[in-house]
Amino acid sequence: MAEITAANSGTYAFDDQFKINRLGYGTMQLTGAGTWGPYSDPKKAVSVVQKAVELGVNFFDTADSYGPWFADRYLAQGLKGAANQDEIFISDKIGQTRQGPGVWTPHGEPNYLRQQLEVSLMTLGIDHEDLLFLHRIDSHFSVEQQVGELKKLQDEGKIKHIGLSQVTVAQIKEAQKYAQIDAIENLYNVGNHDDDDVVDYAQSQHMAFVPWFPLDTGKLTKADGPLAQIAAKYDASPAQIALAWLLKRSANILPIPGTSSVDHLQDNIAAANIDLSATDFDTLSHLAK
Ligand SMILES: NC(=O)c1ccc[n+]([C@@H]2O[C@H](COP(=O)([O-])OP(=O)(O)OC[C@H]3O[C@@H](n4cnc5c(N)ncnc54)[C@H](OP(=O)(O)O)[C@@H]3O)[C@@H](O)[C@H]2O)c1
Repeated sequence: MAEITAANSGTYAFDDQFKINRLGYGTMQLTGAGTWGPYSDPKKAVSVVQKAVELGVNFFDTADSYGPWFADRYLAQGLKGAANQDEIFISDKIGQTRQGPGVWTPHGEPNYLRQQLEVSLMTLGIDHEDLLFLHRIDSHFSVEQQVGELKKLQDEGKIKHIGLSQVTVAQIKEAQKYAQIDAIENLYNVGNHDDDDVVDYAQSQHMAFVPWFPLDTGKLTKADGPLAQIAAKYDASPAQIALAWLLKRSANILPIPGTSSVDHLQDNIAAANIDLSATDFDTLSHLAK
């Protein structure tokens, strides 16, 4: 049986220092219901992060709004003492506020963005962000104000790379007037790839594309779901097929499946060993509504 390691998913180079394994991990499941409050078993949450490191994951996606702060704390604890500390690349997000379970309100006031960044650095125990996404563009402030503040923070050495989340190609082009944009994080999976144009634009601009909801919040993992037939052919799980499709779709795609289960984590990372045939890739590409 092939080794289960994120290294088998190939690499993506953010810069001279960071060439990360493409298959990463997203921390959003490490909270209470509605992405609110602590996870029911904090030790387990930390152990999932530790297991991810063990399985070769060196790309972790997080946000202060997950919990808020709880997912970041578990991430920091899980990464503490990791042997490959200098290879770990964190993408973080600012620009959302939380008022309760399932409630998210964008807030892009530049001073607030700055505060969020400073608090996140403290929570994560780092001195700069490898990649910081503007979680949402807040329509109450201009793109220049919001992205301009990230550029200031970058010039101060607090952010290495700047990214945008849930944006159109037109919004990316607007933001590119104020800073170099190195990554995009949008909703995207085999069942919903409405943002194909964003993936292709990102690829043309040498930007990473981080698909959120890569498993469509678990709907694509169902044993009787739309991926079951092809999964059986590869002796794989439907989750693995969903991730293998993303990995094959474009070399700039970095999937970050979320899970609070070590077994599911292992299942997801094993997707790196699946090479879909061109025919199956094509069939899957036409599944989307
Ligand atoms: N930028 C944004 O606006 C934004 C928005 C949403 C999410 N995100 C990021 O995207 C990441 C991924 O999104 P997500 O975690 O919400 O959704 P997801 O990865 O599409 O799906 C996660 C769900 O699938 C289940 N699951 C995971 N692996 C499985 C497997 N192998 N078999 C069966 N079930 C499995 C998980 O349950 P278990 O815990 O039981 O495994 C969980 O319910 C987040 O963690 C976050 O970092 C970003």
